[in-house]
Amino acid sequence: MFVVFAGTAGSGKSSLVASFSDWIRKEVGLKISVVNLDPGAEALPYQPDFDIRQLFTIREIMQKYGLGPNGAFLKAAELLGEYSREIIRHKVFRSFSDYILIDTPGQLEMFLFRPEGTQFLKKLERLRPVLIVYIVDGSLAPHPEDLLTSYMLSLMLQAKSELQVVTVINKVDLVSEEDMKTIRLLIENPEEFAKSVADKVGGIAGDMIMDLIKIVEMYAPPERAILVSAKTKEGLRELYDLVHEVYCSCGDLT
Ligand code: GTP
Repeated sequence: MFVVFAGTAGSGKSSLVASFSDWIRKEVGLKISVVNLDPGAEALPYQPDFDIRQLFTIREIMQKYGLGPNGAFLKAAELLGEYSREIIRHKVFRSFSDYILIDTPGQLEMFLFRPEGTQFLKKLERLRPVLIVYIVDGSLAPHPEDLLTSYMLSLMLQAKSELQVVTVINKVDLVSEEDMKTIRLLIENPEEFAKSVADKVGGIAGDMIMDLIKIVEMYAPPERAILVSAKTKEGLRELYDLVHEVYCSCGDLT
């Protein structure tokens, strides 16, 4: 299975790819390959088996086309489309690894706001099942409106890609017990989440939370909250169990 790590900038995708690949190799003894699809990465905490930076980097695109960093990510999305056949021909995508973990850029232009990223994942799906692990930065929990915004992007990604998406909260080592309850409510009982935070947020944003949560209730699949820390490795067993359940299609994910 391809397990694609997506999420907003700095949510911990690269850190989680590094610690999760390491954890599975050591604790489960499976063969894991790792792919970097982030052309903007400067240093990676893992050794990739395929690295998109062999083909292009954000720095090179900025220089060659005279673009700023965000424009360069839009151009990178186009290049991902152009190079997609060549990338998929790389041996890692046809290897016998049990799981191939894929790191993506935090600038969501490539995988959310442009078609090329999801088109690329659709091509991958012809080789093996694809699961998107959407990472929400748990340190947003003191600001429930930011937590909700990030979570809603995962629903949009699911709708757009028509691929299975599971939501994982990272950086729980930074999250208080109280905030953990808020996170669990958002994923497992959105209506209660809205009631508990709307007053705290207040103003138009508070009213919007009540309305937006109705959309969450309509479109979010029933899920259990998976809280992990790429730093301390807590929760990685639960993440592995979830990925394995999807792989085996063992039933719903609540
Ligand atoms: P972009 O690719 O730039 O979007 O970043 P990313 O999502 O790959 O995040 P990255 O792994 O680079 O982590 C961003 C920052 O968060 C780094 O300083 C990490 O050390 C830190 N970080 C990542 N995971 C955790 C975690 O579980 N706990 C804590 N405390 N910090 C974390």
